[in-house]
Amino acid sequence: MKQIGIALIGCGAISSVHLKAISEIPTAKLVAVVDTNAELAAQTAEAYQCRYYTDYLEMLKNPDIDVVHICTAHYLHAPMAVDALNAGKHVLTEKPMAETKEAAITMLHAAEANPNVQLGVIFQNRYNPASILMKQTVDSGELGKLLCLKGIVTWCRDASYYQTEWKGKWATEGGGVLINQSIHTLDLLQWIGGEVSSVKGTMSTDSLEGIIEVEDTVHAHLTYQNGATAVFYATNSYGVNSPPEIELVFEKGKLVLAGDTLYRVVDGEQSILTSPEATNLGAKSYWGISHGTQIADFYDHLLHNRSYGLNGPEGFKAFNLVMDIYESSRSGKRISYQ
Ligand SMILES: NC(=O)c1ccc[n+]([C@@H]2O[C@H](COP(=O)([O-])OP(=O)(O)OC[C@H]3O[C@@H](n4cnc5c(N)ncnc54)[C@H](O)[C@@H]3O)[C@@H](O)[C@H]2O)c1
Repeated sequence: MKQIGIALIGCGAISSVHLKAISEIPTAKLVAVVDTNAELAAQTAEAYQCRYYTDYLEMLKNPDIDVVHICTAHYLHAPMAVDALNAGKHVLTEKPMAETKEAAITMLHAAEANPNVQLGVIFQNRYNPASILMKQTVDSGELGKLLCLKGIVTWCRDASYYQTEWKGKWATEGGGVLINQSIHTLDLLQWIGGEVSSVKGTMSTDSLEGIIEVEDTVHAHLTYQNGATAVFYATNSYGVNSPPEIELVFEKGKLVLAGDTLYRVVDGEQSILTSPEATNLGAKSYWGISHGTQIADFYDHLLHNRSYGLNGPEGFKAFNLVMDIYESSRSGKRISYQ
């Protein structure tokens, strides 16, 4: 069986979720990991039986590497992705695409300029069974027209979480709870709800004032081309990490995602569509369980020379909304796309 050679850049918190998933995919072979922290890179290479580099540009010269996973700080995604694409490697980058729109656009241009390789963006929660069912219910029209959507993320990140050199700063993280934690839920609202026609947002720093530069709380109102509307609220100031909540209200009923269980309510009768999934990925439950599914799907597209759907332009949609919510919050004005 043909195997694709993989390298991963950034051996920090999320890397083990990628590395475990890669190790379980028979068509993939982990060739190398990269981290500027040589000790961490060496330890990770030993644990996963591969070689290591401390300079990703050196790694990109290795002809055995076909795909590069980017698991570094947000401000490093764009330069690393552009270098990897220009070196003829496929790229799977962690969300968000970058820390500014300009940086993300350099990735889109590099992908366009290198049509022989593909750029994929991690939004693993699109692969959760509940997300797929919500999308199918909207697209099939079985509950009638979608009227409104609600997305709520209430998580806990205290000062200790921000004791890293890149988090909590506009220049390196690109924002706070919106760009980092709740971009997944915003992505689901835009993916499930259809083309967004306008957005208005408001952000504040509530519990982490004086500790971080960026926002720890945000809310937004979205309108869609199909006439639906959405409200969105996210905070890192809650006391625990609650599972994200989503509600979709249709003409003939509603879907409610609560505590990882998807309920369907029609004529006052409630039924359960999906129950919480067990995960053996070692992922924190609130990160979602589907990294392995997305990574396997990306490789499958590469092996069969098919265009991957969650590509740069698709990954840019939620990222663009994030950036526009920040802009709207600063200007106090709604941003319209028509
Ligand atoms: N999809 C999800 O649910 C999810 C969950 C957690 C994190 N993430 C994303 O994963 C990415 C990484 O987050 P994290 O929490 O693992 O970060 P982290 O800070 O724990 O790890 C980043 C690693 O990159 C290394 N690094 C820094 N500069 C480097 C360079 N020039 N070359 C190679 N390595 C370098 C650091 O030494 C560190 O080990 C972020 O984009 C984050 O948003 C996604």
